[in-house]
Amino acid sequence: MDKKNIDWSNLGFGYVPTDKRYVSNYKDGAWDEGMMTSDANVVINECAGVLQYAQTIFEGMKAYTTEEGHIVTFRPDLNAKRMVDSAKRLEMPAFPEDRFVDAVKQVVEANAAYVPPYGSGATLYIRPYMFGSNPVIGVKPADEYQFRVFSTPVGPYFKGGAKPITIRVCDFDRAAPHGTGHIKAGLNYAMSLHAIMSAHAEGYDENMYLDAATRTKVEETGGANFIFVTKDNKVVTPKSDTILPSITRRSLIYVAKEYLGLEVEEREVYLDEVKDFAECGLCGTAAVISPVGKVVDHGREICLPSGMEEMGPITKKLYDTLTGIQMGQIEAPEGWICEIC
Ligand SMILES: Cc1ncc(COP(=O)(O)O)c(C=O)c1O
Repeated sequence: MDKKNIDWSNLGFGYVPTDKRYVSNYKDGAWDEGMMTSDANVVINECAGVLQYAQTIFEGMKAYTTEEGHIVTFRPDLNAKRMVDSAKRLEMPAFPEDRFVDAVKQVVEANAAYVPPYGSGATLYIRPYMFGSNPVIGVKPADEYQFRVFSTPVGPYFKGGAKPITIRVCDFDRAAPHGTGHIKAGLNYAMSLHAIMSAHAEGYDENMYLDAATRTKVEETGGANFIFVTKDNKVVTPKSDTILPSITRRSLIYVAKEYLGLEVEEREVYLDEVKDFAECGLCGTAAVISPVGKVVDHGREICLPSGMEEMGPITKKLYDTLTGIQMGQIEAPEGWICEIC
């Protein structure tokens, strides 16, 4: 198969339409059989549930080329499961997990020419999503839904090496206790836009959100979970019912324990403790781990000992091991790598 003529290493993170996408509609209590389409446009009624009451959920994952030249995705079954959890919380019908994985495979296979080659650092980003599609004017769930999966090639997350970032402790809250912080609903991201724009305007790369109830505990950023490393090399990651259960974080915990023999603690992490950690990173599909060099809490600078030049040593080991597993250089645990072609 000939690859598209794209300058992979200079791609950014933007939408580039690919040839095919998957669509399935839910009506009268059932999902139809679904199909691939070339049509990138969605036509819905002006009063569609998603447009009025934001009934929409999504997932984000990547397809990439391994060292041996296979196109694979990473643990898509966990994205499928998380989307079911998101659907239940927003009173939407679950899209069956096996069909989710099958739809992702169909989309990647149909757009294989857009999957960047091994070594480019670029990937094919995959976006499954679902929304209420029929007219809804009283505040209630829609009766009809559309599930779609599209893909778009994206460039390497780190161009010229992973430089540590500076983040600020945010005065806005991301998620309420017993709210929707643990699911991947569009509404969580809409309300984070003002916070991220103001962080950027003040020169910070990201926001560190605290727990809304006490504002003493570290939650996550707008798009990634935290991992910390103690001075005696223990990996610590915040445990909270109001953060998104990151697939990358769950994978890194396994890697830390089973591949690197590190001790891991999943527990509440207080903002007051951050000054005592040796390393800090943000983990998510996009970057795997993005190192944090500095946290600024209302003018008080907390400088991680790992500094502003490179990833801390344990963070780097975690990053190298997980990306090695993803790229096929290190043997993966059973079921982690889903080969498509
Ligand atoms: C709020 C939030 N937290 C964490 C993550 C990281 O999750 P994952 O590792 O599954 O990409 C994401 C990205 O999906 C996110 O949007």
